[in-house]
Amino acid sequence: MNIQAITEGVYYVGVNDRTTYRFEAMWPLPSGVTYNSYIVKGADKTALIDGVEISEACKLKKNIREIIGREAPDYLIINHMEPDHSGSISILRSFFPDMTIVGNAKTLEMVKGFYGIEDNLLKVADNDSLDLGGLTLSFHLTPMVHWPETMMTYVKEKSTLFPGDAFGCFGALNGAVIDSEMDIEPYFPEMYRYYSNIVGKYGTFVQKALAKLKDLNLSYICPTHGPVWHKYIDRTVDIYDRLSRYEAENGVVIVYGSMYGNTEEMAEIIARRLAECGIKSIKMHNASKSHLSYILSDVFRYRGLIIGAPTYSNTLFPPIEAFMQAIKTRELKNRVIATFGSCTWAPQSVKRITSVLEEAKIDTKDIKSVDMKQAVSADTEKSLVQMAEKFADELLK
Ligand code: FEO
Repeated sequence: MNIQAITEGVYYVGVNDRTTYRFEAMWPLPSGVTYNSYIVKGADKTALIDGVEISEACKLKKNIREIIGREAPDYLIINHMEPDHSGSISILRSFFPDMTIVGNAKTLEMVKGFYGIEDNLLKVADNDSLDLGGLTLSFHLTPMVHWPETMMTYVKEKSTLFPGDAFGCFGALNGAVIDSEMDIEPYFPEMYRYYSNIVGKYGTFVQKALAKLKDLNLSYICPTHGPVWHKYIDRTVDIYDRLSRYEAENGVVIVYGSMYGNTEEMAEIIARRLAECGIKSIKMHNASKSHLSYILSDVFRYRGLIIGAPTYSNTLFPPIEAFMQAIKTRELKNRVIATFGSCTWAPQSVKRITSVLEEAKIDTKDIKSVDMKQAVSADTEKSLVQMAEKFADELLK
C-alpha cells in the first residue's frame, strides 16, 4: 500500500490498478494506472477527496481505516464524476452512511443520475469554502477539464491543490507517491498520452482553468492519477499549458497505413530526406500497428505531421480514417502538415485526408501532397524528396 502523509493533515489513500488492460475501454495501460484518493484531516472534520473505481472500493476503505481508524470521513468531496473515481460512491456511502457528499450543481445531478443518491448532499458553488478546523477547503469550478462538472479543491493552509484528472498521467505508483521520491521520468510520456487521449479536445477550458489557478500558491498538486507533484510542479504545469495551447516541439510525426509496403516506402523516403535536412525528432507510426493513443501522444508533442495512406474501397484506408477522426475530435491546430497517398487505379486517400482536415477547420490550401499509382517510381521519389525539403524548410524557419 502506498498510504503516506503528503503534508501534515493530508494523506494519500489511493490505489494501484495493474490489472485493467484498457482505460475507458480504449487506452492501453502497460504500466497500470492509479485512482488517487486523499484524506484531509482538520481538527474538527475529515474529508475524503475523490473516490476510486468500483472494484477498488474495499481497498480504499482499508486505506482510509489506516489513517482515521474507526472514525468515518465527514465529507466526500467529488471533483470529477467519471466512474473511474465515482464508481465507488454507493459503496462508500454504505460503509459511511453519515458521510456528506459534496459537489457542485452539475456533480449532484450526476450523483443522482448515476447512483440514485439524493440525500445528505452539500451543494457548493465557485469559491465556496468548507472549514475542517485549521484546514479550509475551497472549491474552484473548472468545467470541461474534461467533463462539465469538473472542479478543483484547494487547501490554502497547505498550499495543496486537488485538481481531479488535470496534471494526471497513466502509470501505477511503484512504492513512492510524491514525485521527488521516485524516478519520475517514465511518468512524463504517460502524461502526454493521458492528456492527448483524454483531455486533448478541451484545450480552451484547460487554459481557462490555468488562468483561474494562477494566483494560488502550490506546494503540492494531488491529481486523481499518477504521482503527487511537488518537486516538478513547474514542469507539470508547463506541459499542461503548452499542450492546451497546442504548442509543440520541432519534430515530425509520420503516420501512415500500408497494405503491401508501397505506401510505407513513400514514408521511408520522406523520413530519410527530413533527417538529411536536419530534423532530429522524427517519429514514425504504422497506424495498423501503433495504438492510436501513442500516435496521438506524439501528434500533440510535435509540430510537424505527415499523413499517408492507400486508397481502400474507393476511400481512405480504415486505420488512417480512424486517426483522422481522432485528430478532428481533438481540434488539432498549429501544425505543419503534408500528405501522401497511393492507389492502384483511382486515387482517393489524399482527397479524403484533405477533406477531414477541412472538416477539422485546418487550412489546407498550402498543404503539400504526393499521390502515386501502384509503386514508387523515380518521379514519385523526386516528388517525395521535394515535399520533404519544403516541409523541413517550413518547420525550421
Ligand atoms: Fe480519471 Fe476523467 O476520469
